[in-house]
Amino acid sequence: MTELKTPSVIINFKIYSEAEGVNALSLARICEKVAGESGAGIAVCPPMTELSYVARNLSIPVFSQNVHPRKPGSGTGYTSPSAIVSSGAYGTLVNHSENRQSAEDIGACVRMCADSGLKICACAENVGKAAEIAGFSPDMIAVEPPELIGGDISVTSANPKIVEDTVNSVKSVDSGIKVLCGAGVKTGEDVRAAIDLGADGVLLASGVVRSKDPESILNDLIRFI
Ligand code: G3P
Repeated sequence: MTELKTPSVIINFKIYSEAEGVNALSLARICEKVAGESGAGIAVCPPMTELSYVARNLSIPVFSQNVHPRKPGSGTGYTSPSAIVSSGAYGTLVNHSENRQSAEDIGACVRMCADSGLKICACAENVGKAAEIAGFSPDMIAVEPPELIGGDISVTSANPKIVEDTVNSVKSVDSGIKVLCGAGVKTGEDVRAAIDLGADGVLLASGVVRSKDPESILNDLIRFI
């Protein structure tokens, strides 16, 4: 599996029906094709049930949608860093808006993932939370205002300040952390705006996953990077 380039475009499949079962790998292969043709840094987050299958069959980076600070052993329903490594995945999201974790657990996940060689992208709902998470030094922080998630207005248009402020705030804590933004991102213009605001990439879902033609959406998304 290749390294994730910057600028990065991470596609979260969530649990959309369009990405259930074998459709997860089909959509992931479209992402892989566009990444291969364009050279853009594209990664995918398939549903958890398809994580290992997609990770073992794809050359671009694959992320788990979540991780828990658990060691192998008893822990029904949890996803340990060790299990994600064994699945063949490259990294993981944590603290997504739809699946929040405590600051203590986020910190523990960051430490355990670093020890396991997994990249981690922690989500934050605002600048303050992003700054708090920056103290744990994850590889990436994605700022996503919850009210814009799944909508048609990109965070880069609705609230460009949150992107700029998150970049400044996170980089002032740890300049090595990559900052992504997400919520409502759907076009190449949105991605360009994110980069102009100082972001290292975007995290998005519905624009690609729910599209009837994900390949053209992806080609548009990466056209300025
Ligand atoms: O994880 C990405 C996400 O929460 C943004 O979703 O549908 O607004 O691109 P969407």
